[in-house]
Amino acid sequence: MSVAAASVQSAIDELRALLGERLSTSNGVRDHHSKDESWHIPHRPDAVAFPLSTEEVSEIVRICARHRTPVVAYGTGTSLEGGVIPEHGGVVVDLVNLDKVLEVNAEDLDVTVQARVTRKQLNDYIRDQGLFFPIDPGADASLGGMAATRASGTNAVRYGTMRENVLGLTVVLADGRIIRTSRRARKSAAGYDLTRLFVGSEGTLGIITEVTLRLYGLPEAIAAAVCSFESLEGAVSTVIQTIQLGVPVARIELLDDVQMDSVNRFSKLDYPIKDTLFIEFHGTGNGVKEQAELVQAVASENGGGEFKWATRQEERTQLWTARHDVTYANKALRPGCEIWATDVCVPISRLAECIVETKKDLKESFLIAPLVGHVGDGNFHLGFLIDRNNPDEMKEAERLNERLVMRALAMDGTCTGEHGIGLGKMKFLTAEHGEAVGVMRAVKKALDPLNILNPGKIFSV
Ligand code: LAC
Ligand code: ZN
Repeated sequence: MSVAAASVQSAIDELRALLGERLSTSNGVRDHHSKDESWHIPHRPDAVAFPLSTEEVSEIVRICARHRTPVVAYGTGTSLEGGVIPEHGGVVVDLVNLDKVLEVNAEDLDVTVQARVTRKQLNDYIRDQGLFFPIDPGADASLGGMAATRASGTNAVRYGTMRENVLGLTVVLADGRIIRTSRRARKSAAGYDLTRLFVGSEGTLGIITEVTLRLYGLPEAIAAAVCSFESLEGAVSTVIQTIQLGVPVARIELLDDVQMDSVNRFSKLDYPIKDTLFIEFHGTGNGVKEQAELVQAVASENGGGEFKWATRQEERTQLWTARHDVTYANKALRPGCEIWATDVCVPISRLAECIVETKKDLKESFLIAPLVGHVGDGNFHLGFLIDRNNPDEMKEAERLNERLVMRALAMDGTCTGEHGIGLGKMKFLTAEHGEAVGVMRAVKKALDPLNILNPGKIFSV
């Protein structure tokens, strides 16, 4: 046994004494925690721990630190860039038991949850109080994981991302200390903003165990519309003009014709197979009507058809569920394939150019890749359907992805609007941030000098 293996074994022995049956080394459990929803190659952890509390997470991290054993936090396993894959083995900390809503402060419009509460679970819990939480990545992800990846989704154009909506965190540090990053006051000028440091740190600086979030009152009126276009350019121009006019759309999502075909098949819908916008308006009855008329006028000028409305709750749920399920829909197009989901974001004025050039690349390629995006933010994805064991397909996906990222960076955009760096975007971080990556490394070294927290992610140490 190597020295490294011997120390992992010592950590496992101590963890077993602490957790009993809540530590697993079974192959089935290790396999389950070896992967996420991306194409990235799985890697098994040596063991999986199932703590019951923040204090227990702290005990686990202390033991792992003593034995220099990697620790990887795990929520729902729905990351899209390999973020939760334990590349260097060690112990996965599955937070599945930290699933309680701790405190709803309806009058202050905030809530504190344990990390493994999912976005849908939270919304089911607060709906009766007339409240909702808007951030909605495709999957029903955990709020701790969403904070860790600075997630967003379809509502970000109106409500912001996790960056704007996390008010504070409880975090277990690499040496086991437990900290709270802020109080519930809506603003504070007290010291460094540690909340924003941990939001988006992808488990490399600490393990998030509790999250305090902003909530919103359910709007008086909500209406969703579907609008098909004669051209992709027309759809994108509609989005750009809508944003530039300052219409406060709650959602404005683009699905190209390939993506619409996939969604129709998977969700048993029959929308025209055309470049399409899904739009949602929130406000008072009059406000919604006014916004809708304005956007319909813009759409009509750009070759868009009449809005097809979804106003009843069930119709809207059906529409947005179909939108959220695109990754699963794309997977079903080619049974057994993996989805390589790309994710760039550019300033809105460059969006049309970025999408048109990207579609040109796709037209010349043999790969199939539906396009979908949170275009109101300038953020969009391709979902390459690939067989990861086929080197030609992998090479082509890599080539197209690299061209896309470099195009976005040249437009002053980013290599990831929401999926994070994980394993998949590491090679682009310096191209995007240059010297600033050195500062990130210094922060990592200060907070995790032994490099035990989710090692091998974001950048090399
Ligand atoms: C979505 C994921 C791929 O937008 O981010 O559905
Ligand atoms: Zn997305």
